[in-house]
Amino acid sequence: MGKKLKTEEILPSARRTMSAFRNFGYTFSSAVAEIVDNSIEAGANEVNININFDGSDSWITIADNGQGMGLKEITEAMRYGTERKYDSQSLGKFGMGLKTASLSQCRCLTVSSRKSLNTPYITGLCWDYDHIQKTNKWQAIKLKNTELNRKVRKPLMKNTGTVVMWERLDRIAELENPDGKRGEKRLLKMVEDLELHLGMVFHKYLSGEIKRKNLKICINGEKVRPWDPFVRTEEKLDILNPIKIPVKTDKSEAHVILEPFILPKKSDFSSDAAFESASGPHKWNMQQGFYIYRSGRMIQSGGWNRIRASDEHTKYARVMIDFPPELDEMFSIDVAKMRAKIPLQIRDLVKKETEKVVGKAKRAYGADMNTKLKRKISEVINSDEIKKEICKTNNIPKIENNFPKNTSETGGEVITSSTHADPLPVAINSTINQLDVTIPVQFQEIYETEIPDDEYFRLLRAVYDVLMEYSDSAEKKVLKEVFTRIPQFEENVIAKNSYIETI
Ligand SMILES: Nc1ncnc2c1ncn2[C@@H]1O[C@H](COP(=O)(O)OP(=O)(O)OP(=O)(O)O)[C@@H](O)[C@H]1O
Ligand SMILES: [Mg+2]
Repeated sequence: MGKKLKTEEILPSARRTMSAFRNFGYTFSSAVAEIVDNSIEAGANEVNININFDGSDSWITIADNGQGMGLKEITEAMRYGTERKYDSQSLGKFGMGLKTASLSQCRCLTVSSRKSLNTPYITGLCWDYDHIQKTNKWQAIKLKNTELNRKVRKPLMKNTGTVVMWERLDRIAELENPDGKRGEKRLLKMVEDLELHLGMVFHKYLSGEIKRKNLKICINGEKVRPWDPFVRTEEKLDILNPIKIPVKTDKSEAHVILEPFILPKKSDFSSDAAFESASGPHKWNMQQGFYIYRSGRMIQSGGWNRIRASDEHTKYARVMIDFPPELDEMFSIDVAKMRAKIPLQIRDLVKKETEKVVGKAKRAYGADMNTKLKRKISEVINSDEIKKEICKTNNIPKIENNFPKNTSETGGEVITSSTHADPLPVAINSTINQLDVTIPVQFQEIYETEIPDDEYFRLLRAVYDVLMEYSDSAEKKVLKEVFTRIPQFEENVIAKNSYIETI
C-alpha cells in the first residue's frame, strides 16, 4: 500500500476568484451566445431575449423552452465548474459559461427553471457579485417562487424551460451616467450588433441546416435572421471541392471538414441588397478567410489564422472548417468560445488547400478589376474635349482613331488601333496587366458603391498614379497633359496633392 499523503485543502477566495472570472474576454454578443448554447443543448427550439433600457435599472432576460432544471440540477448548474458528462454533439465543455459569460456583463445573475408542467414549481438561484464581495463566501442566494421577479416567472407559466436574467449591467452601461441618452443609444447599438452576431454564430441552427435542432431566436420580439457567410442560395457562387481531413487523437480518429467557396462579385449577385448583406458584420475585407465551426456552432468568422494575410484581392474567399468536440484540445478552443487554432497536425494541408482557393479568388478578382478599370480609364480619357485638346497640343490630326474606343461600343473592352502614333494607349496597355497587383485598396473599394464626387477624384488620382508608375518619360508627359485637362482635376486633385506637380 502506498503512503497516505498528508494534504491541505485550499479553497479559492470567492471574492478574488469571482472577480477574476469576470474577465475571460467576452463581448456582450459572445456572452449572450454562451447562454444560447446552453438553451440549444437543453433541447430548446425557441429563445426569447428581452433587453430593457431603464438607466441603471436596465435588465436583460434570455428565456428558452428547453427541458428545464430541478433544484438539484440548477444548483449544480450554478457551480463554477459544473460536474457533468458531455456527448459528441455537446456545445458545452467547461462547466463555466453560464456564470462567466453572465457575470462578465452584469453584477447580478438570476437563473430560474421549470422542469415539468405537472408542478407549478419554479426554482431560482442568484449569484450576486456584491454579496460575494461582502461575504467572501461562495453563497448563491435562493429565491422562492414568490420572490422571483415577474419577468423571470412569466416565460415559465405555460412551458418548461429556463430563464436567465442579468441585472445591474455595470459592464454594459459602464458610462458615468447610464441613465442619460448616451446610455440608451449605446444599448440600442448593442442590440443591433447582437442580432447580427447571433444570426451569424447560429446560422446553421436558425436555417434548419442542423437536423432536429431547429431554432428560433427573438430579440425584443424581432426574429433573428440567419446570416450564411457562404451565400449558398446565390447562383453564381463558386463551390470548390470539399475535403475531409482525418485527425488522430490519443483516443480515436476524427475528421475535420474543409469546404472552400469563392463568393460572386457584386454584379453577379442576385441583387445589390444580397451583396450588401453578404459583406457581413465586419464587411468584405475583414470577413474573408476561415469560418470555424464546432458542432455546427460558429467559433470564428473570418481571418486566416496566420496562414496568410487578408488582402483586397482575396476578399471573396471564405472557407468553412468544421470540427467535432473530440478535437477541442487540438483546436485549443478558449472558454469564451471566441477563438480556435488550426492544429499543427493539419496546418500544412490546410495551407495547401488555402493556397488553391486564394489563387482562384485572386484570378477571379483580377479579371473583374481589369474589366472595370479598362472601362473606367477609357471613360476618363475618351471624352471629346480631351481628345480635341490632345490633338491640338500634339499636332495629331486623326487622334480619334488612336484612342481607345468608347467602351459602350466594345462591351467594356479597350480597343486600340495598331497604327496609332500617340503614346498614350501604349502606356495604358502596359499598365492594364499590372493593375490587379498595384491598385491601392481604397481605390478598389469604391467600385462597390455609386461614385460620389470626391471618390471620383480619388479614383482619377489612383488611375493617374498607376499609369504614371508604368509609363516612360514621354508617356508621362502626355498623361500629365491629359489629366490636367480633365474638368476640375486641377482644383480637386492637383491643388490638394502638391506632389503630383513634382512628378
Ligand atoms: N438553459 C439551460 N437549460 C437547461 N440546463 C442548463 C441551461 N443552462 C445551463 N444548464 C445546465 O448548467 C450547466 C452549466 O452550464 P455552463 O454554461 O456553465 O457550462 P457548460 O455549458 O456545461 O460548459 P461551457 O462552460 O462550455 O458552457 C450545463 O452543463 C447544463 O447542464
Ligand atoms: Mg454552456
